[in-house]
Amino acid sequence: MIDLGCGPGNFTGLFGSAVGENGLAVGVDASHHMLRRATIDNAGPNVAYLRADAQKLPFADQSADAIACLMALYLIEQPFKALDEITRVLRPNGRVVILTSLAPGGTRGDVRSRVVEGVSGCRMFGRDEIVKALRLRGFGEVEQRTGGLSQLVTATRHLLGGGKDTMK
Ligand SMILES: C[S@@+](CC[C@H](N)C(=O)[O-])C[C@H]1O[C@@H](n2cnc3c(N)ncnc32)[C@H](O)[C@@H]1O
Repeated sequence: MIDLGCGPGNFTGLFGSAVGENGLAVGVDASHHMLRRATIDNAGPNVAYLRADAQKLPFADQSADAIACLMALYLIEQPFKALDEITRVLRPNGRVVILTSLAPGGTRGDVRSRVVEGVSGCRMFGRDEIVKALRLRGFGEVEQRTGGLSQLVTATRHLLGGGKDTMK
């Protein structure tokens, strides 16, 4: 599995403990500094780290069982390019989990969301943006949970799209 935008590897280390003895959790990040911390603090026998851009992943098509992108998508310059790459790299029936921002009131681009973006430097996604983007890319079983200024979205990569979706 791949932990995209892994930062200091706090989740990658946990994933490495969960993938089983033949599994591998690969933490991917664009920052040398973060990866240095990750290799010191969150190494393990089933963990590897790689410096790469989430918008151009150095993995073969359909090579990952699962991809997590936790608190990173809102920092990526072209987040929908990263979603394209997640789609390309996940194998059919592979799962994705995305924890990211939610614009105040759920609406991207209004005054409140622009203020938060200005102060935080993070892109604030609309309530439907990620869900729609995943469906467009052929994901099914899309589930969304929202709370405050965050949203958690999980989905399964289908080859032909469709599936049973829920939104909360
Ligand atoms: C807030 S940290 C989150 C770290 C980790 N996922 C966590 O939850 O602890 C966001 C990370 O995304 C990385 N990042 C930002 N843009 C990226 C890109 N285009 N490709 C890969 N990583 C990126 C940053 O370097 C940073 O380490």
